[in-house]
Amino acid sequence: MSFNILVAYDGSDLSRKAVEEAKKQVKLAEDAVLHIVTVISNGGPTVNVALARSFMNDLAEEARPAIESIREELEGAGVACKTDILMDYTFRNPASQLIDYAKENEIGLIVLGSRGLGGVGRFFLGSVSSQIVHQAECKVLVVK
Ligand SMILES: Nc1ncnc2c1ncn2[C@@H]1O[C@H](COP(=O)(O)OP(=O)(O)OP(=O)(O)O)[C@@H](O)[C@H]1O
Ligand SMILES: [Mg+2]
Repeated sequence: MSFNILVAYDGSDLSRKAVEEAKKQVKLAEDAVLHIVTVISNGGPTVNVALARSFMNDLAEEARPAIESIREELEGAGVACKTDILMDYTFRNPASQLIDYAKENEIGLIVLGSRGLGGVGRFFLGSVSSQIVHQAECKVLVVK
């Protein structure tokens, strides 16, 4: 059975660096598959649910070419890839969706950045990386 590696991509420079690290990890493992996953999450409570969903769908369409071009690049380098854009209509942290995905897809290693698009925070880890380090059942590699 192949070893499944998940790289969490949010478009940030550090998540791009995580992709490069994930590529190395795939090459180290025999017969590994890389899952490149982006979560589109709900911006916050709103009275207009239809508008919020349409906005999220727009974000997903914007995110798709980015992960597809990463897939093309990696497949060109001989890496077997899957891509997924997960829609989270709830108000959970995107980490929850990534952790669920990891369980459902028998992921053995999650690779992600220490921080993401959220700008400079006070803490070394962002909320997504922090929750994944605490709650994921598989190995986690945090790139900084
Ligand atoms: N929506 C997302 N989809 C996929 N991966 C994500 C997403 N958000 C974050 N990540 C992954 O988690 C890493 C850390 O990002 P995180 O969101 O924790 O930091 P931040 O954006 O700086 O902080 P915060 O979001 O708490 O303001 C990113 O480099 C990326 O690998
Ligand atoms: Mg973030």
